[in-house]
Amino acid sequence: MSPAFTNDQHLNDVLASFDRATNPRLADVLRSLVAHLHAFVIETELTREEWMMGIEFLTAAGRLCDDRRQEFILLSDTLGVSMLVEMVNQQNSDGATEPTVLGPFYVPNAPARKMGESIAQDDSHDDVLILGVVRSSRGEPLADASLDVWQVTPNGLYDVQDATITPMSSRGIYRTGADGRFAVRTTIPVDYQIPTDGPVGRMLAATGRPAWRPAHTHFMVSHPNYRTVITHVFDAASPHLKSDAVFGVRDSLIVDFAEKVLSFDFVLDPILDDVRNQS
Ligand code: BEZ
Ligand code: FE
Repeated sequence: MSPAFTNDQHLNDVLASFDRATNPRLADVLRSLVAHLHAFVIETELTREEWMMGIEFLTAAGRLCDDRRQEFILLSDTLGVSMLVEMVNQQNSDGATEPTVLGPFYVPNAPARKMGESIAQDDSHDDVLILGVVRSSRGEPLADASLDVWQVTPNGLYDVQDATITPMSSRGIYRTGADGRFAVRTTIPVDYQIPTDGPVGRMLAATGRPAWRPAHTHFMVSHPNYRTVITHVFDAASPHLKSDAVFGVRDSLIVDFAEKVLSFDFVLDPILDDVRNQS
């Protein structure tokens, strides 16, 4: 009788199946993914029932996705993978603004806003003025940088989560002046829960994890010659700063929204400083 086929032989067969790939990066990523998945199955001694549960979980996540709902980003966020991708990719200089997760509620092509104009749908909530400069990590102010800003509406839902909210509420794109300055007006952000009505919510409930995100305003700050920064500014008053459902809080991003007029500068690294772009 020939010896039993081993787990290692099986893994090697699967790894070798990628040898004909014409894209070497694709082959490397898939080989690494397969090796980790096989190790996970062996380490946990995954049962058939647990494997099937995982398949059903991913199927349910896929079924929920459309152009308004992205359950896979939510899964990546709640497993800390989105934040890790940011950390691995950041390569920022010390003074550059720290990035955090994009999240599933970014919508491109928000309306252009003038300096100081509000992104709020109406003026019935307390607002706050965020003043600052977009500058390079070498200190120069950056004229005509774009600040794409979005935030949960005061009722704790994003516009895309509720058909009764006017589309593009609490969203807007600002541009800096010649001196790099910007003036963003918004409502004081509220804490809110990430969507819990799908498989990710069931995972959080099953593991006793809170679904809260600490109050924040999202920013995507870009300029043609600089590395885009995707980040948030968080409210120091939030009780959820230490238990963010998506592990996105960084101390350098916490501000006091109670000040009503607050300062926050964004610092971008030149694209040439990215080692991956240097030959
Ligand atoms: C958000 O801040 O919009 C967000 C980020 C990750 C998951 C859910 C929401
Ligand atoms: Fe958010």
